[in-house]
Amino acid sequence: MAAAAARWALVAAVVVALAVALDNGVARTPPMGWLHWERFLCGTDCAAEPDRCVSERLFTEMADVMVAEGWKEAGYEFVCIDDCWMAPTRDERGRLRADPRRFPSGIRALADYVHSKGLKLGIYSDVGNTTCAGFPGSYGHYELDAQTFASWGVDLLKFDGCNADSLELLAEGYRNMSLALNKTGRPIVYSCEWPFYLRPMQQPNYTEIKQYCNHWRNFYDVYDSWNSIKSIMEWTALHQDSIVKIAGPGGWNDPDMLVIGNFGLSWEQAVTQMAMWAIMAAPLFMSNDLRHMKPEAKWLLQNKEVIAINQDPLGKQGYRITKDKNFELWERPLSDRAYAVAVLNQQEIGGPQNFTFSLTFLGNGLACNPACCIQQILPTSRDWGVHNWVSSLSVEVNPTGTVLLKLVPL
Ligand code: GLA
Repeated sequence: MAAAAARWALVAAVVVALAVALDNGVARTPPMGWLHWERFLCGTDCAAEPDRCVSERLFTEMADVMVAEGWKEAGYEFVCIDDCWMAPTRDERGRLRADPRRFPSGIRALADYVHSKGLKLGIYSDVGNTTCAGFPGSYGHYELDAQTFASWGVDLLKFDGCNADSLELLAEGYRNMSLALNKTGRPIVYSCEWPFYLRPMQQPNYTEIKQYCNHWRNFYDVYDSWNSIKSIMEWTALHQDSIVKIAGPGGWNDPDMLVIGNFGLSWEQAVTQMAMWAIMAAPLFMSNDLRHMKPEAKWLLQNKEVIAINQDPLGKQGYRITKDKNFELWERPLSDRAYAVAVLNQQEIGGPQNFTFSLTFLGNGLACNPACCIQQILPTSRDWGVHNWVSSLSVEVNPTGTVLLKLVPL
């Protein structure tokens, strides 16, 4: 009896220690920043493409623009390196090192520069033997790599899941890197793709994933296209029963980068991505060229009201309430009993269409009860005035566009 009790006490102590050890205190709201992948991919030829290759120049220039053009002030804080930053081999002491031609000053100096601007630096590695693009992976080196990143002053690690030899090694690797980062004592946001690589074979245990990761990808890479945005939103709605409840301060579902400001989305589609990433409480990592941004894209990405919804301190992820022909109605509970509501028009033919809905549908009848003030945030700011519980609202939505509203109770 006594032995069994002692064993349980030990198990309980380990569980508590683990939970405490892994609470790194970061990402209380979805992290925001810039990440090179979708826009710049794996450009390594700096002679041919000096402005586009993955090099220290790309990141210092992005950091400069982030400060000079209001991005930092809007909340975008992380400048993140993705795949392809490394030299093809580790150094003589087994440590990862940056490609010396593209990062002649090294990552430590880049981190110092980024920090001197009041920003934070993100880096990338992989749980397996090699990264997705074939550079050295962290398998067998988790502790050393975590220490290296911490010694460089890195603030975020995106840890990819390519080339793990088994599902067990994948899970073990994600856990071990989390523990190794934690052991460094430096608060480092831990961005995972664990459930995405696991899902084809096995149902992810999100309670466990949230214990180890600050955000996690569930689905395929975002592309600069409406099809990609649509498929991410649809996947999220179809799996909302299992993924929405797990999101909250410290751990977020990650539908991947914002591609606004690139080539593939129309204005309406860009509005939809921004509105829906706010509803989904998504980490907001832009992948675009901040040095050449159209004013409209900048207005949208820096829109204070949308960002406030994304960053709402209650930290509850939104969900789809209904799908009615081509229309989708989504809501997200916010702090102070407010709600964000998105009306998305999926029809890809014709012109603007009206969608009329009763406010009693929202927040299980509580969103506008007995009355509320309605503010339209996207596509344009507009005051809809005071409404009561039983009133209906009719909004006009352009094809593939979204109307984003905020309801504040009276
Ligand atoms: C995977 C990830 C992407 C990106 C690439 C880099 O596909 O999902 O986000 O990091 O690898 O090779």
